[in-house]
Amino acid sequence: MNNKIQAPVEPFRIKSIEPIPQLDAATREEKIRAAHFNLFKLDAEHVFIDLLTDSGTNAMSARQWAAIMEGDESYAGARSFRRFEKTVEDIFRMPYILPAHQGRVAENILFSTILKPGQFVPNNTHFDTTRANTLHKGGVPLDFPVDASSPAAETFFRGNMDIPALESFVKDKGAENIPVIILTVTNNSVGGLPVSMKNIRETAELCRRFEIPLFFDSARFAENSYFIKKYEQGFESHSVKQIAQEMFELGDGVMMSAKKDGLANIGGFIATKDLELARRMRELLILVEGYATYGGLAGRDLEALATGFEEVLAEDYLEYRISQVAYLGSLLEAAGLPIVKPTGGHAVFIDAGEFLPHIPTEQFPGQALAVALYRECGVRSVEIGSLMFGEGGDEESVDNFVPAPRELVRLAMPRRVYTNTHYEYIAAHAANIAKKKESLKGLKILSQPKLLRHFICDLEEISQQ
Ligand code: F0G
Repeated sequence: MNNKIQAPVEPFRIKSIEPIPQLDAATREEKIRAAHFNLFKLDAEHVFIDLLTDSGTNAMSARQWAAIMEGDESYAGARSFRRFEKTVEDIFRMPYILPAHQGRVAENILFSTILKPGQFVPNNTHFDTTRANTLHKGGVPLDFPVDASSPAAETFFRGNMDIPALESFVKDKGAENIPVIILTVTNNSVGGLPVSMKNIRETAELCRRFEIPLFFDSARFAENSYFIKKYEQGFESHSVKQIAQEMFELGDGVMMSAKKDGLANIGGFIATKDLELARRMRELLILVEGYATYGGLAGRDLEALATGFEEVLAEDYLEYRISQVAYLGSLLEAAGLPIVKPTGGHAVFIDAGEFLPHIPTEQFPGQALAVALYRECGVRSVEIGSLMFGEGGDEESVDNFVPAPRELVRLAMPRRVYTNTHYEYIAAHAANIAKKKESLKGLKILSQPKLLRHFICDLEEISQQ
């Protein structure tokens, strides 16, 4: 019997291609050194397969490109906005819809409107920008992820909210100090794992009991809905669209970075059931983004998104999408790399701490692996470990190094962009790295800014003693 892992079949064929140059190993070496071992500093044209993010990197369909030609660029009341509004209302079940150019603006507008300094914002897990926007308005962001190792964690739904912990927090701090509770679907920061409908219902029930609005951070809502269909009892015969509708009906509002499950390259929105809140947010939207019917987007972007929202709910697409993530995970595991399991909806996470035990955390094993992947085959990934979330560790603060909880490397998968062969190529090269992993070197920071250091810091390799 052939026990080769089965590659998921792509439910599309390729109509338009974009050549990707492949540098030789010597040139890659030159480029990574010139970038001071920081992959954010590489030019994209020096990357062969770019898995830095799944955000804004999607490939659009022929229908989306055709819709772009239909874009109505009128300043106010454009036909394209009406189409966008109708599609969003149908799926997200909210009557008041404000377009925005990306997710973090939606967050900023919401928090600027409802948050008072000192108030708390619970979330199953905040994404960086939601956390930063809460802090920016003087709020306190708090995460309540379910303990994935506890037997209470449902097998697949490790993105869930920890309801008992949230309830005791609300009782302790008082509902009047909590202007909103947020559910992030899927939960990006815990590996793109989903939240179950049961957990969404329980969170909504808690919110109603304490009269706190429930908002969704819905960047990957279609992937979450598909996981519910596939793994939650009672949803087998529901369509993914029905599941999405049921989920959003339980909330009071939605913010979305549509650069993910909008299947487009830019866009977002904020939607609510509350007319008064919509009115207040709209005033700010007009001030900072654009008029209420375009919110920083062109009419053609609104068209691409309306079509993208229809396409992203297609079940053959979602089946392929989720299977492709699992496929890359299996290939990497077979190549000898430990991955975080189960795999989620948009990325595979490699456990670099486990893979490279000879590199101490203060020498950034995740970054060492990300650098090795680029050197080996031109792949760009991102370290999600002590470089991104730790503190200290440069020459001046070597003694106050604070590590992150885990040393991971994320391979985020753009939608409909790379074929199974690209992922097989990566896994074959990852196997080479596994064979010589003892030779990988740790890194030290040469210079770093105060905030978000991973974007711009310079590093250097530490020569073996
Ligand atoms: N919410 C979630 C769950 C996200 O993953 C992101 C972005 C945002 C909000 C912010 O949206 O970029 O449109 O302003 N995540 C990207 C990533 C950047 O790589 O995971 P944005």
